[in-house]
Amino acid sequence: MADIERIPTGIPGLDEMMNGGLPYPSTILLAGGTGTGKTTFCMQFLFKGAKIGERGLYFTTFSEPPEWMLKFLSTYDFVDPKRFGQEIKYVDLSYTLEKAKGMEEVLEAIESEIVTFKPKRIVIDPISVMEGLLKDDYRRFLFRFATMTKNWQTATVVTGEAKPGSPYPLELAYIADGVIIIYNTEVGRLRRRSLEILKMRGTSHTTGKQAVDISERGFIIHPGL
Ligand SMILES: Nc1ncnc2c1ncn2[C@@H]1O[C@H](COP(=O)(O)OP(=O)(O)O)[C@@H](O)[C@H]1O
Ligand SMILES: [Mg+2]
Repeated sequence: MADIERIPTGIPGLDEMMNGGLPYPSTILLAGGTGTGKTTFCMQFLFKGAKIGERGLYFTTFSEPPEWMLKFLSTYDFVDPKRFGQEIKYVDLSYTLEKAKGMEEVLEAIESEIVTFKPKRIVIDPISVMEGLLKDDYRRFLFRFATMTKNWQTATVVTGEAKPGSPYPLELAYIADGVIIIYNTEVGRLRRRSLEILKMRGTSHTTGKQAVDISERGFIIHPGL
């Protein structure tokens, strides 16, 4: 049986949950409500790549200047500000999304960044807000985007917030090779974070919710806790 290539996620505890790392290339949906740690997870994934010489493209759909992002991130130990703007490129898609006449223009803007920067890792955070902007084109956009990242041989993480009543956005699960869900569940008067690998093509993986902790050290999983 041919072994599938894997890349390390940079999330302590996660690679061990899926036999050594994310299957590569692949598109992963990272789903969770607000404040569950999606952006932290994505940045840790990109800084891990930067550390081992893999370039990463971070697309945001919010118009937030990179300096702001860096200011919040700098509380984390895993962040090396020098890498930001070097191995990690921050691209604000909000202007493109506002001005584009259709999904083709959005896809072209994304692809031109991929062509020039040649990333091994890509993040779109959050991708789910595009639904309101692209409307009927959203599903076609997602499908084309997934095909594109496959052609360019990247490990891609897209983040999405589920609508009330469902644990993850279904339309994103369709295009994803893997689905990871982060929960922030009420336990009495407290909240407890956990993570579950719901699906991961090309590998066996741990099932069920595993405890998560976010601290200065970033996003950490404590399997079996
Ligand atoms: N330095 C830190 N130490 C501990 N927890 C932190 C730190 N920075 C952020 N957090 C936690 O992470 C949460 C934000 O995570 P974030 O990755 O922005 O979530 P999301 O992108 O899912 O909304 C904060 O609400 C806070 O609980
Ligand atoms: Mg976020």
